[in-house]
Amino acid sequence: MSDKEEVAKRRTFGIISHPDAGKTTLTEKLLLFGGAIQTAGAVKNNKIKKTATSDFMEIEKQRGISVATSVMAFEYGGKQVNILDTPGHKDFAEDTYRTLTAVDSVILVIDCANGVESQTEKLMEVCRMRDTPVIVFINKMDRYGKDPFDLLDEIETKLNIKVRPLAWPIGMGDEFKGVYNIYDKNLNLFQANKTKISEDVLSFDDINDPSLNTIVGDKFANELREELELIDGVYDDFDQSRYLSGEVAPVFFGSAVNNFGVKELLDTFIRISPSPKGRQTDQRFVEPSESKFSGFVFKIHANLDPNHRDRIAFLRIVSGKFERNTFYKHVRHDKKIKFPNPTSFMARDKSLIDEAFPGDVIGLYDTGTFKIGDTLTAGEDMTFTGIPSFSPEIFQELQNNDPMKSKQLDKGIRQLMDEGVAQLFIQEPGSRKIVGTVGQLQFDVILHRLTHEYGASCSFTPLGYHKACWLTSTNQDQLKDFLRAKTGNIAKDKDDNLVFLAETPFLLQMAERDYPEIKFHKTSEFKVLDKP
Ligand code: G4P
Repeated sequence: MSDKEEVAKRRTFGIISHPDAGKTTLTEKLLLFGGAIQTAGAVKNNKIKKTATSDFMEIEKQRGISVATSVMAFEYGGKQVNILDTPGHKDFAEDTYRTLTAVDSVILVIDCANGVESQTEKLMEVCRMRDTPVIVFINKMDRYGKDPFDLLDEIETKLNIKVRPLAWPIGMGDEFKGVYNIYDKNLNLFQANKTKISEDVLSFDDINDPSLNTIVGDKFANELREELELIDGVYDDFDQSRYLSGEVAPVFFGSAVNNFGVKELLDTFIRISPSPKGRQTDQRFVEPSESKFSGFVFKIHANLDPNHRDRIAFLRIVSGKFERNTFYKHVRHDKKIKFPNPTSFMARDKSLIDEAFPGDVIGLYDTGTFKIGDTLTAGEDMTFTGIPSFSPEIFQELQNNDPMKSKQLDKGIRQLMDEGVAQLFIQEPGSRKIVGTVGQLQFDVILHRLTHEYGASCSFTPLGYHKACWLTSTNQDQLKDFLRAKTGNIAKDKDDNLVFLAETPFLLQMAERDYPEIKFHKTSEFKVLDKP
């Protein structure tokens, strides 16, 4: 197979959902279809239940399992499907946001009873920022939920994307009869706990065929006909190019736990979803078809064993072919490095690879040379952009409890920040260390790791900030005035960018009103311009 064909056959995507909507279950069913796992339950524990707070065993388990299942690859219908796992727990949302920079499309799972939930909105915002193509899977149709039309309206208004149903449910809950595939014009009758890999479908080129009444009953047959007519009237015909540009999301219905509707989803997915896309750098746009290798690190995972401080850096290949034992340029360090044992991730196993192509994600053993956002190239001096850092929501001051161990603390916190566990802001005078996260659980993780892996002795004190905004301005005098007036609320991020720590939404609004020529950014990019 030529390199070009290798790229064309790859489909790299992520599954996103509010916790408990069925992401893990759907992932598992997709893997079953793809033959990547043989039994159900293999990916089941890949999440922390909502109730978990500071259970370190759970945290450790999460870290361990999520390395193994971070990228799941399988072949299906002539395509290589790469699923990038995203942590289910909301406290790990930042990690999910970054993983979304490495996918080319997403499948969004929605619970038919709960509709669009808070976490879904946030994740979709990130997808909308880069026009990522989205397919929606409305799950748990074996339960009673909201009216399908209401769900579609809710998706359009809350998620700011147009929808186009490609399948339509017949009944729901105990009366769930099945799903009509609008695209292929066939009917898939519901059976609980399907274990077969193939789904039996009945072809219905003409929806007015009377045998439909015999199969699902008069009431449901008539309802389906009416609803399909309504769909045709309300929604534009499916247009693949509008899906690919992130304007329209095709919608499917099913029940992941019953393995129902999953095959249709997968079949359509491999037919319409995008092959690997290029990415922007600070110099130019890089196309996947380019012959020279390039890629970026979007995730860093620490080794579970604290005695081995090595880590795994996850690299998304953007262009060219990656080859084992070949020298590549680490752009930020301006240094050539080669990798004797890069790995791919197949469900539970990690295996050594000799080569990899655009769209693939590989694991590189790292002893501290990588930071999130780092770029590797065949020699060109360029850095991929667009790996965002979002304003944290919870802030605590990190205090050193043992002056003899300040070195350990400094090293530990620096390395954890490189992994993207949280964000560190330094405030003068006194170099106060303020750690910002999106979830409370992160503080437990940080404290646990600083103590156990780095031998530091430290503690956190909660701070009452609401948001951290990155500051830029073309009016340097106004910026100077602001910095003077707000000394106590100004800090710097790890790249020395100025940050305003606002106590309340109101105070932030006031600042925006009083200083109109200053921009208060709620997201920043992980800038990797600081040369060592
Ligand atoms: P998540 O990764 O998005 O957090 O969700 P997960 O797949 O773990 O699913 C959350 C719960 O919803 C699980 O039940 C799962 O079995 C159930 N579920 C998933 N798909 C469907 C479906 O199509 N219909 C119904 N009725 N339930 C579904 P749980 O009780 O939390 O866990 P478990 O003990 O069943 O594993």
